[in-house]
Amino acid sequence: MKNLNDDLVNQQFQAAFGHPPAGIAHAPGRVNLIGEHTDYNLGFVLPAAIDLGTWVAFRPTSDDHLTAVAQDFAGQSVIVPLQADQQRDEDAPWSDYLRGVVGELSQRGYRLAGGELLMTGNIPSGAGLSSSASLEMALIRALLELSGDTIDPTDAALIGQAAENDFVGCACGIMDQLISARGQTNSALLIDCRDLTSKPISMPSDWEILIVHSGVRRGLVESEYNMRRRQCEEAARHFGATSLREVKLADLLAAEEDLHPNVFRRARHVLTENARTVKAAAAMREGNLERLAPIMAASHVSMRDDFEITTPEIDTLVALLQDAGKGEAGARMTGGGFGGCVVAVAPERVVPQLIRAVEADYERTTGCEPLIIEARASAGAFCEPVTLL
Ligand code: GLA
Repeated sequence: MKNLNDDLVNQQFQAAFGHPPAGIAHAPGRVNLIGEHTDYNLGFVLPAAIDLGTWVAFRPTSDDHLTAVAQDFAGQSVIVPLQADQQRDEDAPWSDYLRGVVGELSQRGYRLAGGELLMTGNIPSGAGLSSSASLEMALIRALLELSGDTIDPTDAALIGQAAENDFVGCACGIMDQLISARGQTNSALLIDCRDLTSKPISMPSDWEILIVHSGVRRGLVESEYNMRRRQCEEAARHFGATSLREVKLADLLAAEEDLHPNVFRRARHVLTENARTVKAAAAMREGNLERLAPIMAASHVSMRDDFEITTPEIDTLVALLQDAGKGEAGARMTGGGFGGCVVAVAPERVVPQLIRAVEADYERTTGCEPLIIEARASAGAFCEPVTLL
């Protein structure tokens, strides 16, 4: 994993533009501990921001446009006009996030000003750790710093989501942007996606979050994701509800015969996952891993059997971590699915045995190379001026 820090980003900006930046905005990626595919059903999620993320260094200019350099795409650079109406750029698809965010900010009346931007990050791509949301949140901080305007974290999250839904074309929920904007050090956030309120749930000091990338490239993510979303909407409509949040599990179970089997199972995942997420937050608040581990295990089974978003390799990885944890580690797939990462929560003293088990058995049994990330629950997006020497 790339080791990035403000000094390095500062140097990269100087190399690209010939002078130092005025400031650097940072926004984290996230890992979701539980509550998968519940956000767009207006349910509960329990994510934590992590210590991997995106950096956007910036400096104001008197131009009527932005000049943006993508350090991680061979230093490719684009010019983006400061206007509501934006066009997608097929030659530099990374810049669509910038264009989408500029368009949304402008449409909603935020002030924008010319400037130079250098973007870089260290979230492994395609891992399901929200590199896009982190880029959106860092960009919004940098752009408003350039213009001298302000924004609250919830509006920043909604603008990032709108850019992604309406401009980039991914029908994601609000979880990733909200946790990247609002994350808190050493805490996960229990977010109610209906009213967007959140409660910090502090991580017991001797617990660790271990993320293991399965090495499986996420395939079919967008089409399968959008299909799951439509199936959930269909289930809600059956009950005359605007979202599955309004539907009770007993009513769903009673209507099994009237729904398409897939639609029924997708809805059952969402309703049971909401209940599990609230219980998981309570178990974490009590520091009770023996209670948390079976809840995370049930979440994985529900994603595997009812929502059908796991892969055989991911199932193997989760089973391996659960066995190695001997009841003291919670483990489940995290994120949208179809590849990507598994998350484990365990006492510090148990983590080495989890890592050993992954190293000894995962590649041998699946042929996929794992990437192990020991993550820390971290702060949400922030911005710092660069002190000129
Ligand atoms: C992706 C989306 C989120 C959420 C998760 C699944 O990360 O961006 O909004 O729906 O999948 O929980």
